[in-house]
Amino acid sequence: MSALSVKHLLGIKDINANDIDMIFKTADTFKEVINRPIKKTPSLRDTTIANLFFENSTRTKLSFELAEKRLSADVINFAASSSSVSKGETLIDTVNNILAMKVDMVVMRHPYAGAAKFLSKHVNATIVNAGDGAHEHPTQALLDAFSIREKLGDLKGCKVAIVGDILHSRVALSNIFCLQKLGAEVMVCGPATLIPKYIHELGVKVELNLKKALEWCDVANMLRIQLERQDIKYFPSLREYVMLYGLNKQILESLSKQIVVMHPGPINRGIEITSDVADHAQSLILQQVENGVAVRMAVLYLLAGSIK
Ligand code: CP
Repeated sequence: MSALSVKHLLGIKDINANDIDMIFKTADTFKEVINRPIKKTPSLRDTTIANLFFENSTRTKLSFELAEKRLSADVINFAASSSSVSKGETLIDTVNNILAMKVDMVVMRHPYAGAAKFLSKHVNATIVNAGDGAHEHPTQALLDAFSIREKLGDLKGCKVAIVGDILHSRVALSNIFCLQKLGAEVMVCGPATLIPKYIHELGVKVELNLKKALEWCDVANMLRIQLERQDIKYFPSLREYVMLYGLNKQILESLSKQIVVMHPGPINRGIEITSDVADHAQSLILQQVENGVAVRMAVLYLLAGSIK
């Protein structure tokens, strides 16, 4: 097994285009495997993986768990809400207690940026970041780019607009790093208050007008408005947001070319996209979820190569 250039997957910033290519080629193989009548491989037999979720998740948690089970790993799940964290136990103590049960890998989602990196420096296990605050969500970016590659081919020169709440989004930052490493051009679009002031320094275009962004791009990745991370009001009302930044079928079908629509989920139907866009033939949303399992199998399998 070839190994990735990193021991942990903490963020897309830390990996290179060769790593991404290796993950995609491995995911191609696993996608074929999970579409067979017998969907399991023995690749991670005798590897124990703990899924630690300190923040809510549907897709990422289920997708990692399924990926681990498809690889025949032993899996334990931990949800902070039903744990001794509520009794004051620290992150390191919690994880070290879990590792004492001979765990090899930890998949962690945490509300604080940097939590996965912190853990990687203090515990002796391979760490996979399943989303840390508004920082990175590397496997989401990998499955997004894998889905674009599957639909449109090479990402080199592909134009991707990331639309919505860029300021509070870990998906946006990981997507920017991943798409740029693969040679795509990236634009961010949304209300000025939800676009980080210095984001252009990452080499992305900034556009405040949704129609112009959609006319420019091949792919529009419509992000959720993260009201739970908004401590102040960033726009006057959801109604106004929908009028200016919501994607509906009429706008989608008025464009001069057919673009691909993506969304990392969870979707707020009728806010960032309408139902008829979510379920449109140009929507990749369910393919993203399907590809998430194969991509996460690839990440776990390749990282496991460094612990055997
Ligand atoms: N896309 C994503 O991270 O969704 P969840 O929060 O449901 O895991």
